[in-house]
Amino acid sequence: MIILAIETSCDDTAIAIVKANRQKFEVLASVISSQIEIHKEYGGVYPTLAVREHKKNLPIVLKKVLKKSLEIDAIAVTIGPGLDPCLWAGINFAKELAKAKNLPVIPVNHLEGHILVNLINKKKLAFPALALIISGGNTQLILVKKIGNYKILGETRDDAVGECFDKTARILGLEYPGGPAIAQKCVKPSFTHFADLKLPRPMINSKDYDFSFSGLKTAVLYNFKNQNKKTQKSQKYISAMCREIQQSAIDVLIKKTLRASLDYGVKSIIVGGGVSANQELRKQFKKRFDNILFPPKKMSTDNAVMIAIAGYYNREKGTKNYSRIKAEPNLRIN
Ligand code: KG4
Repeated sequence: MIILAIETSCDDTAIAIVKANRQKFEVLASVISSQIEIHKEYGGVYPTLAVREHKKNLPIVLKKVLKKSLEIDAIAVTIGPGLDPCLWAGINFAKELAKAKNLPVIPVNHLEGHILVNLINKKKLAFPALALIISGGNTQLILVKKIGNYKILGETRDDAVGECFDKTARILGLEYPGGPAIAQKCVKPSFTHFADLKLPRPMINSKDYDFSFSGLKTAVLYNFKNQNKKTQKSQKYISAMCREIQQSAIDVLIKKTLRASLDYGVKSIIVGGGVSANQELRKQFKKRFDNILFPPKKMSTDNAVMIAIAGYYNREKGTKNYSRIKAEPNLRIN
């Protein structure tokens, strides 16, 4: 089965063509048009601009992807969660394409894409599994009883972890997106400089599986405001802050994942979403968990390969009754 998938839930316009083979998925084409440069000056995604860019870029990206003539069987498209007008840009484009080629459209949950992209090289997973989704819009721990059977165990009560990186990076004068900018500044600690700098680990000991990252952001803001102008600009201070921000997030994520994995006796852990691209986070998680899967790095952040893979597992939802496919900005996974 060959699926063409479209992803426009946030600030990436992505289209991919993926073939589902018996053992694994084969990426025949994948193009992502990133809008990072456009949203940089706003320190986050500016929805009106994002829709305009999606509409402009979709036909260009499609042309790049459709270089060879291929027998496409279905079109998968992200219907949520995400920014409503951005989702509609992708959905309308998918419907037009499907109509022209008389193909079914498969509606896909973006978060299920972040989970199932982990199966790209091996269509096998030990169940029950625990999925940790860490992105700019979501931080969720999800029990995966089997593919298609999900239960949200916990989630952030305020900011998502990627959102916290983006906001704290902005406080420190770093570029958007904040996650990679912070990671880049995390050089080895100097024990003589800011050795006692400590940020909170919000909700690390709470008995549930929820998260809260806005307190971390506020702590960064107060710490920054309490420094003199020279320190605020000092690379040593910025590096020490970045290390603490990143480590605080990693500590909380590991502790909560560990608690949920033990309580539910899971057999594997799956991590997905933009923050899962983080090298240090991957290293520390791999030290703590044996059976853990991370997506290939470039498939941690938003892409359309993950939508094609999730589309494959939801192929029975494919329909030619296109009016049934609608954007669901607040779509939940269970
Ligand atoms: O999944 P994603 O591409 O978009 C959605 O939010 O759906 O995730 C984007 C988020 C941003 O907040 C960005 O700062 C973060 O992922 N991110 C990272 C890294 N790369 C992207 N955070 C930490 N380390 C990274 N290497």
